Amino acid sequence: MAVNHIVDCISAGGTLAEAKSFPIYFAPLEGITGYIFRTTYEKYYGGIDKYFSPFVVTRDGGIMKNKELRDILPENNQGIDLVPQILTSQAQNFIQAASQMEALGYGEVNLNLGCPSGTVVSKGRGAGFLANLLSLGRFLDEIFDKSPCEISIKTRIGVEDVEEFPAILKLYNQYPIKELIIHPRTRREFYRGIPHRDVFLYACRHSANPLCYNGDVVEMKEMKMFAETSICRSVMIGRGFLARPGFCGNAGRKADDGDKVVLKAFVEELLGRYREVMSGEIHALHKMKELWIYLAPHFTNYQKYLKKIKKTNKMGEYLATVEQLFEEELSSLLKGGGAYEGKEI
Ligand SMILES: Cc1cc2nc3c(=O)[nH]c(=O)nc-3n(C[C@H](O)[C@H](O)[C@H](O)COP(=O)(O)O)c2cc1C
Repeated sequence: MAVNHIVDCISAGGTLAEAKSFPIYFAPLEGITGYIFRTTYEKYYGGIDKYFSPFVVTRDGGIMKNKELRDILPENNQGIDLVPQILTSQAQNFIQAASQMEALGYGEVNLNLGCPSGTVVSKGRGAGFLANLLSLGRFLDEIFDKSPCEISIKTRIGVEDVEEFPAILKLYNQYPIKELIIHPRTRREFYRGIPHRDVFLYACRHSANPLCYNGDVVEMKEMKMFAETSICRSVMIGRGFLARPGFCGNAGRKADDGDKVVLKAFVEELLGRYREVMSGEIHALHKMKELWIYLAPHFTNYQKYLKKIKKTNKMGEYLATVEQLFEEELSSLLKGGGAYEGKEI
């Protein structure tokens, strides 16, 4: 259903936001989309069918760090539908972590087969696991046999080359994966270049499991590419939501994109909550600085402000800069200009 419904909505002059039944997921972004971010985003924007937690690393006996456990505790994730993500290459550790997650009430866990970072890949985890399909097969045999929860997988399309993908997909086709989320880049590409959407369309034709598309979605109209397939059930968006929160619409799927008054309240509350929970102002400040790298380019005259935000280590200076940035933007919007004028949303 989903894809054709989207296309109908768009061709009728609507937006994806009106395609209520098409699931939209918030991608995991380690260091950014922790529980404070997720629940604050939900309060101001919503419209997300599932949030995926940044990866939880395992050790013998289950989840490695208290900080990671805290991030997925249900009491910290009220009001959102969360799927915890696991990063490991040890089946036993996966099963133990999944059991802990099931005990917390989760019915689905996500396996990370996409992380490209050197320290992860060198241990044969994340995208690094795709280099050894024999051992990945043994791992999948065991976890699909013993996991107490349903398993979705978030994957890249290869380590070095897109030619690796057919064999990877053939392996995935042997398991009842709840949803196969494909970020169509190889590990070598990290986040560079254009995603290989042709490879995703190959998956649409050959996957035995439902698919979710992930990668560089920043506009509604990009959804049109899924027109020819019905196996793609959902879209996962990460950096697009950091840059333009709410661009897919709110819980009623009404687009909030570009509303700088809402955005101001959102970033203020986010900072307030980080300050409450984190020891030391500097940590809260770093969190906000990271977010502004994505947010700022959607303001009209942002360069000098972003430069200051990136440079400062003082909370007072940060607050004053952000205040000025919003002031300038809101007054230019009142005059009728602004970053979103004439843009399709
Ligand atoms: C800073 C950062 C942290 C990320 N952390 C994770 C993670 O913990 N788990 C994961 O599966 N992917 C992670 N990713 C990948 C994203 O979930 C997503 O696949 C990628 O950003 C492409 O989607 P997008 O273009 O919509 O952002 C991360 C990406 C970035 C930029």
